[in-house]
Amino acid sequence: MPEVSCSTRRAGVLQAGPRWYVTESADTMNKHQLFNMDCLHFFKVEDDRRWDTIFADPPDNIGLKYDNYSDNLPTSDYINLLHKWLQLFVERSRCVWFSYNAKWWAQVGRIVTELEAHFGKHIEIKPCVQIHTFGQHNHHDLGNNHRPLIRIKWSSCPLYPDAIRVESWRQKHGDKRADPRGRVPGDVFGFADDNELAMAISDDDVYDFTRVTGNSKQRRKWHKTQLNEGLVERCLKLTTAPGEHVLDPFGGTGTTLRVCKRIDRHCTLVEIDPGYCTQIAAEHEMTHPNRRRWEIP
Ligand SMILES: C[S@@+](CC[C@H](N)C(=O)[O-])C[C@H]1O[C@@H](n2cnc3c(N)ncnc32)[C@H](O)[C@@H]1O
Repeated sequence: MPEVSCSTRRAGVLQAGPRWYVTESADTMNKHQLFNMDCLHFFKVEDDRRWDTIFADPPDNIGLKYDNYSDNLPTSDYINLLHKWLQLFVERSRCVWFSYNAKWWAQVGRIVTELEAHFGKHIEIKPCVQIHTFGQHNHHDLGNNHRPLIRIKWSSCPLYPDAIRVESWRQKHGDKRADPRGRVPGDVFGFADDNELAMAISDDDVYDFTRVTGNSKQRRKWHKTQLNEGLVERCLKLTTAPGEHVLDPFGGTGTTLRVCKRIDRHCTLVEIDPGYCTQIAAEHEMTHPNRRRWEIP
């Protein structure tokens, strides 16, 4: 088991806790950074860095046409990668969110079970799901309308449920028993635009994250896939406090950076594709101190 320590940072002060701390050099403090490299290589180069949360949305290996990356690896190679990624992320961050294609649920389940056996009661698993009622229509079989999202957290590290409270069913309906603070939402991340499905699942779950489709305002048309900013925001607010450090090892369009800027977290993105890096850097007017790194001081 790796040596792990824990702390929470408040107002720039690192308070040593029992098991976890985030290492920062003067160089990496208070900056958003973008690295153009394979995330496995990044973890080797940045060997001593730790994060408060990693949000990972890896390629699905379903043959999508990215500009540079091949999304069509032999299955065993992809499963090996899933294993390496998940293990490294858990070792380097006090909390990991991992969004993956439902096609891989059994394989990810097996890997997570192995991690649980290895780390024992030191880690906690929270399976969640993102539902797409506006998924691609399949005329021949059940459509693909959900995407698993798993959270793996070191047991001693904090959650901030008050940061993500939403209006409850009771509040919406003027029920006097309503908690004025609203309710902490459930583990289903979904939609507002399909009332039938919403009602079928639960009366008071909240459905507010549409899939980022071609005509969405959030959409960056130069990239194949993109998560909804609202979903990423809810995850990050639950597991980090303002000023803490987030890593997204599969930067994509930079969704995590856009969210981190808005909610005052420090963000590090890693993206293997140089073209996507250039797009992200241009959108955020990042400086370019060396060939593989961009930043916002
Ligand atoms: C599913 S997309 C992420 C989309 C992102 N969550 C967003 O909302 O914009 C996966 C991204 O990972 C990148 N990628 C694939 N393999 C990688 C690797 N080994 N290291 C870093 N980035 C990688 C791909 O180029 C692609 O942009």
